[in-house]
Amino acid sequence: MSDAETMLDRIAAADSLGELEAVRVSALGKSGSITALLKSLGSMDAETRAAEAPKIHALREQVTAAIADRKAALETAELERKLATEKLDLSLPAPESVSGTIHPVSQVMDELAEIFADLGFSVAEGPEIETQWYNFTALNMPENHPARAMQDTFYLEPRSAGEEPYVLRTHTSPVQIRAGEAQGAPIRLIAPGRVYRSDSDATHTPMFHQVEGFVIDKSITLGHLKWTLETFLKAFFERDDIVLRMRPSYFPFTEPSAEVDVGWSMDKGRRVVGGEQGWMEVLGSGMVHPSVIANCGLDPDEWQGFAFGCGIDRLAMLKYGMDDLRAFFDGDIRWLKHYGFRALDVPTLSGGVGA
Ligand code: DAH
Repeated sequence: MSDAETMLDRIAAADSLGELEAVRVSALGKSGSITALLKSLGSMDAETRAAEAPKIHALREQVTAAIADRKAALETAELERKLATEKLDLSLPAPESVSGTIHPVSQVMDELAEIFADLGFSVAEGPEIETQWYNFTALNMPENHPARAMQDTFYLEPRSAGEEPYVLRTHTSPVQIRAGEAQGAPIRLIAPGRVYRSDSDATHTPMFHQVEGFVIDKSITLGHLKWTLETFLKAFFERDDIVLRMRPSYFPFTEPSAEVDVGWSMDKGRRVVGGEQGWMEVLGSGMVHPSVIANCGLDPDEWQGFAFGCGIDRLAMLKYGMDDLRAFFDGDIRWLKHYGFRALDVPTLSGGVGA
């Protein structure tokens, strides 16, 4: 069949996917030549059909296979051409318009690590998917504690029937128990990280960041707590006129408990930390509850300590003057650039932690 030869020649000669497709349509498409041959089988007498059908089917198969081969060859050639011509040098710096900067949350976490390292604290981490024991029970928050309520806590689906559901940790405090179990006393750590609560408005996002402070030793007093917080906040805000006020409060995992306010003043129409024109709450703290010490696997008659918990996003907002928490998680490069942290800048106490 000379028809077949022409078709195979045209397939071999097609040097683009578009051309090949045109050949395919002209042979196998609705009104293609092979389609027409197949249709003609219906009007043949039995004898002719028995003779012609195998030839026509073989032709269709031959052409289909030739098209597939040519297509694969054209695609490979196209890929090779692209690989040869389109080069991406990953060692080149990204253009100004797309290069990122360090996120304020990372910046503040680095600043915290730097400040507390200077006070002899290490940095600890814990899982974000946490058991109810670590997130609540071990921290002295019993079954019926309001903080365990569904509207605040993200509970995960149990993986098997009867299994107690895991939670997304609602605070960094479970790291207290995990660190106590893992390393025993004495302990001096901070634990920064993500936490989750079912809440969303200008000052609350369902995921946010906290830093936990945890110190266990012998003869630790409220005085150590206050001095540590004062030293930390002075270094963090880079001001000497930081004034703290401790208000009695209640947290199940500390006794006594105190909320800590920091004094603010007005500077060029903006409320800044420092001075004493008014007070704002910055963190929760207290002396570690004896049952929490026991749940760390330590003897509460021998060991005591203090703990504090603080919102990192809020610290960043106060220090760098952002007013909407939601923008933190929009991933908008213009917002990042506005705050202007450099990508590879590590804060140091000598260079100024926020420099
Ligand atoms: N875990 C508390 C919260 O998420 C914050 C907190 C308060 C932590 C007092 C502490 C503390 O370690 O002593 O609201």
